[in-house]
Formats: sequence, structure tokens, C-alpha cells
Amino acid sequence: MAEALLDFRKQPKPAAYEQAHDAIAGLLDGIDDPVAGMATISSVLHTGFGHLWTGFYRVVSPELLRVGPYQGTVGCLEITFGRGVCGTAAAERRTVIVSDVAAFPGHITCDARARSEIVVPVFDRDRRLIAVLDIDSELPATFDAEDQQGLERIVRWFERTNTA
Ligand code: SME
Repeated sequence: MAEALLDFRKQPKPAAYEQAHDAIAGLLDGIDDPVAGMATISSVLHTGFGHLWTGFYRVVSPELLRVGPYQGTVGCLEITFGRGVCGTAAAERRTVIVSDVAAFPGHITCDARARSEIVVPVFDRDRRLIAVLDIDSELPATFDAEDQQGLERIVRWFERTNTA
């Protein structure tokens, strides 16, 4: 069991994500349940990086995301593919980084404090899109290519799952 209080903020991002990845790998060792994975990853990232909102939207029908495990204030329940940052990442199956949410057409505001956002697609072992990981920050321009790289590595954990 990893230590209860994780804080990744006192180091450069690559080292922080390495530590987060290893903590998650340790906690989820022997588990292949995607919901347990989403809950644990949300908790580790949210606590360790101190973001505003950290969690998953699951693909529940071909064009619909529904909220999954998360940490933070109440998130909106459903997002159609193509809408907002989450729906754009899902429709295009790619990571979307938004430096200023006010400048993103169609951004869906769940918490008015959010200033910047990153959304990372999550695939299972057959490259089916099963979810997106959404992280919101109270500060502008929080996320960059290092976050993208670190988070895309972390969500590769779901490639062990088969949700069909
Ligand atoms: N801002 C997101 C919606 C989800 S909440 O921020 C938790 C979006 O535009 O997709």
C-alpha cells in the first residue's frame, strides 16, 4: 500500500508523473476492474496534484459520455460526443489541452472556477474508446505536453481491461 498522503507538486512534472504512475501501478496491482481503476486514478491524481476536478466520463452508448468516478464538485451527468472539451476529445480520440476555457467554443462549465483543462482519451485492450479522463485547474494554462505524456501513460493501465 502506498503512503496515504501523496503530493507530487514539489518536483518537475516528468518526475511527478513517474511517481504518480508508480503509485497507481502499485495500488492497482492484480486488479483489472475499470471502475476500480477510474476511482483510484482519480483519487491519486486529484490528491497528489491538487487540481480542481479530476475524473472520468465513460462511453455508455456510441455517442454519449456519462460521468464516472471523480473527485471535486458535482460534474455534469452526460456529455454528447462533439460537445465541450470532453466530447471533442471523445469524438476525435485524442488528447485536448485548453489553456483558457473561456476561449474554447462550447466549453461546458461545471465549476465556474475552472480556467484550464486537459482531457485524455482512454482505450481498452482492443483500442475501443471506453472513457475520457478530464482534469480541470483553477489556474490558466496549467497543462502542457508533459501532462499529456504523463497522463496518456497512466491511462494505458486500462489497456489491460476488456469491456466488451
Ligand atoms: N468542462 C468539461 C465538462 C466536464 S466538467 O468540467 C467536470 C467540458 O467542456 O467537456
